[in-house]
Amino acid sequence: MTLSIKSNFQLENYNTFNISASTKLFFEFENENSLRKILDNEKYKNENLLILGGGSNILFSKNFEGLILKNNILGIKKILDTKDFVEVEVGAGENWHEFVLWSVKNNLSGIENLALIPGLVGASPIQNIGAYGVEVKDTITTVKYYDIASGKTIIINNKDCNFQYRNSIFKNQLKNKIIILQVNFKLYKKAQNITKYGAIKSELESLKSKPSPKSICQAVINIRTKKLPDPKKIGNSGSFFKNPIINNSKFKELQTRFPDLVAYKDSETHMKIAAGWLIEKAGWKGFKDKNIGVYDKQALVLVNYGGGTGREIIELSKKIQESVFNKFNVEILPEVNII
Ligand code: FAD
Ligand code: EPU
Repeated sequence: MTLSIKSNFQLENYNTFNISASTKLFFEFENENSLRKILDNEKYKNENLLILGGGSNILFSKNFEGLILKNNILGIKKILDTKDFVEVEVGAGENWHEFVLWSVKNNLSGIENLALIPGLVGASPIQNIGAYGVEVKDTITTVKYYDIASGKTIIINNKDCNFQYRNSIFKNQLKNKIIILQVNFKLYKKAQNITKYGAIKSELESLKSKPSPKSICQAVINIRTKKLPDPKKIGNSGSFFKNPIINNSKFKELQTRFPDLVAYKDSETHMKIAAGWLIEKAGWKGFKDKNIGVYDKQALVLVNYGGGTGREIIELSKKIQESVFNKFNVEILPEVNII
């Protein structure tokens, strides 16, 4: 069998920042076998690898000198159906939002608050995607991955994934070492109705709907559409930075200086600060420099209006980090994976 590997492949349509960059080699795989064929091939064995999903959390700062493997493994299958829940096995190449819609359509609950997050199912455990009061760690049971060094397929349990806010074992010990093939989820038959994130309640009221997986999914879609830029129209990768977590004494100090600081309790000892607020107060909201800028409705989102480069976005992000640090003495770190 000949492997259809593309050379000098343009990635502009494969990253939601719409950055123009190329990769030396590009290969799309539909199953584990075709992935093994390429990784066992002497010709490609020593190439630098990058696994690509929907490209919605990646910023290309330069051309990629190696082999990009685009994950297209499909399939959603119920493997366990009990009185209270079902367990589903989902191919890493399934579109995340389509999977959320599938879940809602099947009267299952647990991921409806994560509607409209771009990207693929395989990337969802990597940064433990989260939105509107829910994180994907609350429904993932296992993650199946291919270990690049040994060629073995391994299944890891939820508790071994070390899930934290926008973090997991896949961003740390297993970074660049594995390829996620499949994720299993436990979805509930009883509606979870998580409406603690303020905007959901008011959106449900304006929709005149009672909480249900379907109505919450719609409310989240409506809120997100108003707040976040559609990558099809304006290049972006959602929140560019993570919300910083600081200890209570540093928080008290900061709150004394800035009484309208927006923050949420993270644990008994720490508070999570709204980075969007910090960036806005540092004067960056709506900033525009030629083709790039800071979104005018959400300061945490950096945007490419067309023709911007990864380098320009990185330079802007550094200026923002520096000015936030100078004003608030708080470090904000990128959420986006910079290549
Ligand atoms: P990619 O960008 O393709 O890859 C992300 C990282 O994972 C890369 O390092 C890549 O190498 C690695 N990777 C991808 N697939 C695999 C695999 N199968 N095996 C091994 N490594 C892999 N995120 C949130 O958490 N919450 C939000 O609310 C949210 N909103 C967003 C809104 C917008 C408009 C955008 C553009 C992004 C948003 N994001 C959000 C970020 C992004 O959608 C998520 O991080 C998503 O999970 C990325 O999926 P992807 O398939 O596009 O990953
Ligand atoms: N805020 C401002 N100015 C801004 C933006 C925000 O003052 O320009 C303040 C407001 O007070 C607002 C608060 O920050 O109420 C929180 O803003 P928002 O509800 O938009 O949430 P966020 O903290 O900015 C996080 C996630 C998003 C996720 C939303 C909803 C991170 C880094 N970001 O954003 O995830 O969709 O909550 O749950 O945790 C992503 O990760 O890419 C992403 C979009």
